[in-house]
Amino acid sequence: MAIKVYLSTAGRPLDPGEATISVFDRGFLYGDSVYETLRTIGGRFVEMGRHLDRLRRSADGIGLEIPFSDPEITAATRATCDATGNADSYVRIVVTRGIGELVLDPRHAGAPLLVVIAKEIHVPPPEVYARGLAVRIVDVRKISRRSLDPTLKTGNYLNSIQALRQATEGAAEDAIMLSIDGAVAEGATSNVFMVKEGRLLTPSLKTGLLSGITRAVVLELAAELGIPSAEATIMPDELRAADEVFLTSSVRGPIAVTTLDGAPVGDGGVGPITRRLSARYDAYLAGIAAGAGRSGAE
Ligand code: PDD
Repeated sequence: MAIKVYLSTAGRPLDPGEATISVFDRGFLYGDSVYETLRTIGGRFVEMGRHLDRLRRSADGIGLEIPFSDPEITAATRATCDATGNADSYVRIVVTRGIGELVLDPRHAGAPLLVVIAKEIHVPPPEVYARGLAVRIVDVRKISRRSLDPTLKTGNYLNSIQALRQATEGAAEDAIMLSIDGAVAEGATSNVFMVKEGRLLTPSLKTGLLSGITRAVVLELAAELGIPSAEATIMPDELRAADEVFLTSSVRGPIAVTTLDGAPVGDGGVGPITRRLSARYDAYLAGIAAGAGRSGAE
């Protein structure tokens, strides 16, 4: 499996073994970085424009000035994907606050570092999409919006790591986290949707969660399909009583949750609205592969 890594300090894609960064990089020391994960389909980026917009919003939110333009980041990402030779890639774009003295104060940071990692994309096998995931609503709560704004996609992921550890200690494959106030927020690396009586619901951004790009796309596709949808405050018991639940992310797309806290969701199978939206999402990806959709950067 080919993996290539672009470093702005080298200015070109490297083999993973050559792609080394300083132990004084603040991304390594403090998670003082922002990042995006996206994929390609048919060699084209999926929603590069929206990912770059969110990268900049995240950077603004932590006062990190990105000295690389969108075309520069896109060109570096394209070169890295091409260098892998893979038909399609999982792509991670990271900007760290760079190397600094061993102090927290970001005024001591040097120049930001751009890292792009491209590797073969691995999505769960079809049988996992067909059976759906077993997920647990974990005790680990989302960090309060007042502590670290969850709409910023920063390199500090210990909150989600702790959630996932708790979920996978038991029989669950993924975690759903609640806000400090006890409302359903999001998955460890995904957004949450539920269906009740034909209506699609997803936690509102006010709950404190990442404004997922797949979440936005799924809401758009639902509108196209005439499926009524709303953003709402969802309490855990409402989620447990849902007819259908699914998660969304750039890597996995929509994926059903068929077991929640050990109990079946609805009738325990992948529900009809999840199926319709998944099929529409596959068609949307196929459109991008064919050059018709919103790649964001050709
Ligand atoms: N994660 N919520 C969190 C906490 C996430 O980390 C992610 C994405 C999402 C879904 O966002 P999007 O649809 O834009 O991918 C929601 C990516 C896949 C990751 O961390 O690799």
